[in-house]
Amino acid sequence: MKEVIVVLDFGSQYNQLIARRIREKNVYSRILPFNTDFDIIKGLSPKGIILSGGPASVYQKGAPKIDRRIFSLGVPILGICYGMQAMVHTLSGKVAPTKKREYGSAELLIDDSKNLFLGIPARMTCWMSHQDVVERLPSGFEKIAHSADTLFAAIMDKKRRFFGVQFHPEVAHTQYGSDIIENFLYKICGCRGLWTMESFIEEASKKISAAVKRERVLCALSGGVDSSVTAALLNRVIGKRLVCIFVDNGLLRKNEANNLKEVFVKKQGIDVRMINASARFLSRLKCITDPEEKRRIIGNEFIRVFEEESKKLGKIKFLAQGTLYPDVIESVSSFGGPSSTIKTHHNVGGLPAKMKLRLIEPLRELFKDEVRVLGKKIGLPESVVFRHPFPGPGLAVRIIGDINKENISILQDADEIVMEEIKGSGLYSSLWQSFAVLLPIKSVGVMGDERTYEKVIAIRAVESVDGMTADWAKLPYELLNRMSNRIINEVKGVNRVVYDISSKPPSTIEWE
Ligand code: XMP
Repeated sequence: MKEVIVVLDFGSQYNQLIARRIREKNVYSRILPFNTDFDIIKGLSPKGIILSGGPASVYQKGAPKIDRRIFSLGVPILGICYGMQAMVHTLSGKVAPTKKREYGSAELLIDDSKNLFLGIPARMTCWMSHQDVVERLPSGFEKIAHSADTLFAAIMDKKRRFFGVQFHPEVAHTQYGSDIIENFLYKICGCRGLWTMESFIEEASKKISAAVKRERVLCALSGGVDSSVTAALLNRVIGKRLVCIFVDNGLLRKNEANNLKEVFVKKQGIDVRMINASARFLSRLKCITDPEEKRRIIGNEFIRVFEEESKKLGKIKFLAQGTLYPDVIESVSSFGGPSSTIKTHHNVGGLPAKMKLRLIEPLRELFKDEVRVLGKKIGLPESVVFRHPFPGPGLAVRIIGDINKENISILQDADEIVMEEIKGSGLYSSLWQSFAVLLPIKSVGVMGDERTYEKVIAIRAVESVDGMTADWAKLPYELLNRMSNRIINEVKGVNRVVYDISSKPPSTIEWE
């Protein structure tokens, strides 16, 4: 029986962080919207519930409300920031706006060194971010920590095992935050720590076998982390009944197809059909310069190739996809307003419906960092498990303007140098992405005694946590210098290299 902690999402930007912190402690967590049907919550038999923070004020019109029935489930509850205020408000305490808004680090003074704060020093730094405070406690509650500005910085109803913290234990700026979460899980909720990668593999394998039975499974292998781990996991369970299709659209990094063959076919023994469809893709992309049009063409062509190839394989019932947990969380973090599609990201989402395939998504419960741990456990090399994301449309959105063989070859060569140098410098793992972009302009240069008029390569390297925001990486000058020298000397047709120093927002990571 799986032990689960439910994280009710009140719109906090940190709710995934809360869920990950719990899992790091070997306890399975699930994020559910605050207004999830009570019977669903009850049906999960949670060992405890965490109420996340959120941007609202309890008195605000439309503020997310707690279903008070959770308080009679008899399980421990921990309210964080808004979660604590909403709990106090629901249980007839008083929350009010504070004159002194607390934002950033604050010193927390602990009044009860047992329970939630067991083993934690009497003074610690915590991260606060709030405008409202608890003014009067509901009956049964007592104060267990305070700060200079907040009287009720942490509270507890010992009998009912309800806790509230005004600060954020899930963020790295809070000292001992992880110990506080551990106390909640183990000392208060009585968790045993059953969520381990070994247990996941065992359970996922059973589920895959039960669902697939003797049927065959198709998988679109891209070489990215998610599809790679999906394929490797399925291969362990169903072996040759897994067939992967790898579509080379001609817009991949240099030697990508060979590298992939080495890892998946030779080392893992997976049945991978390597399809070289580059001529088809390139002919459709001829004279296309609009980025969204490029994405649309590549997405559609991918589906066509995939469908054609899969027909050759005979009857297959299932399609495996590397969907991850963040893709399936029904988040309520949209209080901030409507979000617009800035780029339509190509994925294989249209495939199952079109091909009447049933989906197998073995990674649906995992966060990316867990997928990496899984990948390593099942024998994938670090070069696959820790690789940077690579967009579905590939080099097409890194060749600004017209795509042709010559441009692809120039970009592949330049990109390979960037990759080699970044890896050689030891910085690869600290970057979210690093790559070369080919610009649609020529500039004047001089080589030897000759005037040249050639292409320009831009280098892009960014640091990011999730790709939603990103900072340009402050790469060492010597590294930039080496990349520039090598690209200009080794890549024919390029006489200038520039470094992209824009962050996201307002720029995006890719240039198109
Ligand atoms: P942007 O450029 O929007 O990129 O800042 C954010 C992240 O998404 C990747 N990206 C894509 N991935 N299909 C993909 O599969 C796409 O069309 C696409 N466009 C951007 C990008 O590489 C970065 O990691």
